[in-house]
Amino acid sequence: MGKKIVVVGATGAVGERFISILEQRKFPVSEIKFAASARSAGRKVKFRGREYVIEELTEKTFDGGWQIALFSIPKDLSRKFAPISAAKGCVVIDNSNAFRMDADVPLVVPEVNAEDVPWGVKRGIIANPNCSTIGMVVAVNPLHRAKKVKRIVVTTMQSVSGVGLKAIEELLEETRAALAGKKYARKIFPHQMAFNVVPQIPNKDAFGANGYTSEEMKMLHETRKIMHDDSIRVTMTCTRVPVLYCHSEAINLEFENPCTPEEARAILAGAAGVKVVDDPAAQQYPLATDVEGQDDTYVGRIRQDESIDGRRGLNLWLVSDNLRKGAALNAIQIAEVMVAKGL
Ligand SMILES: NC(=O)c1ccc[n+]([C@@H]2O[C@H](COP(=O)([O-])OP(=O)(O)OC[C@H]3O[C@@H](n4cnc5c(N)ncnc54)[C@H](OP(=O)(O)O)[C@@H]3O)[C@@H](O)[C@H]2O)c1
Repeated sequence: MGKKIVVVGATGAVGERFISILEQRKFPVSEIKFAASARSAGRKVKFRGREYVIEELTEKTFDGGWQIALFSIPKDLSRKFAPISAAKGCVVIDNSNAFRMDADVPLVVPEVNAEDVPWGVKRGIIANPNCSTIGMVVAVNPLHRAKKVKRIVVTTMQSVSGVGLKAIEELLEETRAALAGKKYARKIFPHQMAFNVVPQIPNKDAFGANGYTSEEMKMLHETRKIMHDDSIRVTMTCTRVPVLYCHSEAINLEFENPCTPEEARAILAGAAGVKVVDDPAAQQYPLATDVEGQDDTYVGRIRQDESIDGRRGLNLWLVSDNLRKGAALNAIQIAEVMVAKGL
């Protein structure tokens, strides 16, 4: 009684995680196939011990009663192919930002707004949020429900895998070149990434008229849409750091009601998808190198913001695996909601 699944963008950084996470979570699959560009057509991938030949993504990919398409391809291609898949009855869960802010497409993080999945299934497209936004709302939403968050100030430190497989290669090659004292011709990043921090995401056409990048504005608009609360104020700075996997975030929260670090730890300890690692005296706090490959969003360094009166402010440090919870895992959890609700 499994689902007929198409993995679109199967050869990419997110696509590879789709395959391993479907296996790890024993997602009920009755049939599966894998699509990517013409460059990859004919290559083989393994799923549950069987080899599959990757096919080129075309309009015909969705013929044949396929039920769920997990998309991780560039956004222009999502714009083109998601409606084709939806029209053929195959529900798309899309990782790009093509549909995230469309009013008729839900933007879902299952721990926060699983109730939006059914109308997304009817529409035929469900959007997976931005990778930094997902981690943030998983941790902030339970605090918001308990203490009402008025304002979020966030600075992200995002790994290069957020840009895909070629970006990982570029950082490694550039680092080797820098250590050898050689020049390196970058193709992906606008500035040297090795040994650097770059306050610009994405790499091209990043800045809007207000001086914020499109990545930063996503954190405002997507947070409000997922949490169903337009009153939350969010201000943000997104940076790229020379880290391979996992996004880290320094988050300041201002609450309507008092919230002590002890209360926040207790709320987060009981929250779905969150793990609290917070023993600074023992040098225990979330680290990208520890969180890589983990499903939960890790939170630590929880402390009172003493610049806000009445114990209504907190600072915390958060790390989540951008390729897993920030992309593939979240999409598969959406598919799991579909299965659980019989959709
Ligand atoms: N990386 C992250 O942390 C992250 C997080 C959230 C969302 N996303 C989004 O997920 C999508 C994929 O990101 P990624 O990081 O996995 O990138 P990636 O590693 O560069 O992979 C891109 C995938 O798209 C496929 N593709 C490219 N052109 C194609 C075409 N003409 N037809 C069919 N398939 C094509 C590639 O296939 P070939 O190998 O054949 O070229 C590859 O499978 C993007 O929209 C990205 O914004 C990524």
